[in-house]
Amino acid sequence: MILKAEKVTRQFNRVSGSSNIFFAVHETDFELPGGLLTVLEGRSGSGKTTFLSMLSGLLRPSSGNIYLDGADIYAQTDKELSRFRNDNFGIVPQGQTAIATLTVMENVMLPGTIYGLDEGLREKAEKLLDRMGILDLADVLPKELSGGEIRRMAIARALIRDPKVIFADEPTSDLDDANTDIVFDILKSIAADGKAVLVVTHERNADKYADRMYRMDAGVLMEC
Ligand SMILES: Nc1ncnc2c1ncn2[C@@H]1O[C@H](COP(=O)(O)OP(=O)(O)OP(=O)(O)O)[C@@H](O)[C@H]1O
Ligand SMILES: [Mg+2]
Repeated sequence: MILKAEKVTRQFNRVSGSSNIFFAVHETDFELPGGLLTVLEGRSGSGKTTFLSMLSGLLRPSSGNIYLDGADIYAQTDKELSRFRNDNFGIVPQGQTAIATLTVMENVMLPGTIYGLDEGLREKAEKLLDRMGILDLADVLPKELSGGEIRRMAIARALIRDPKVIFADEPTSDLDDANTDIVFDILKSIAADGKAVLVVTHERNADKYADRMYRMDAGVLMEC
């Protein structure tokens, strides 16, 4: 299993006084293989989320292509692409993304309900919550969780459809060292299951967790 980016770029048009088109991501080739934890670090505004959004089927590149096992993901219609994302990608977005009115269990099951109900959904969710160490919190609302517990819930939700690729955007940004270790250990164990895992982070010593390290600097990607 491999996700490939070929010559992708992303431009944005920032209208501030005068209109100004700029590259958030310059032309980039990149491969994300299964079985490894790949970490992408870089300053705020360097283009990390933009790059991750293109890889994860959420943002069409301005040019270039993204391939999952040889299939061009953006050759699909938006409707097909939504379904494809739900089938293949697990995404832990930047920031707080729990649905406040759903319980932890319901939040985790949600991606498995969108295109009809997945078989054994509740059992799968229970297993994942157990693996994340928060099964006892299954029936509470997200507002009762700590920051670290919320992150683990978001990772469980990203795993619920057994995706090939996991994307996590700053999954430890608001966590202390102990919780950062827990979250990275979980992400490493997901990679050890054979999935491709890409983590975007500000974490200074993320290299201790990473199998591969990349750096984004003003829209330019470099392997470290
Ligand atoms: N939809 C958009 N329209 C215009 N500009 C955008 C848009 N999204 C992002 N940008 C700009 O593109 C650049 C890269 O943004 P991006 O969110 O990818 O950065 P980042 O590396 O993820 O930063 P952070 O670490 O703060 O999350 C920034 O200058 C940002 O302002
Ligand atoms: Mg970002």
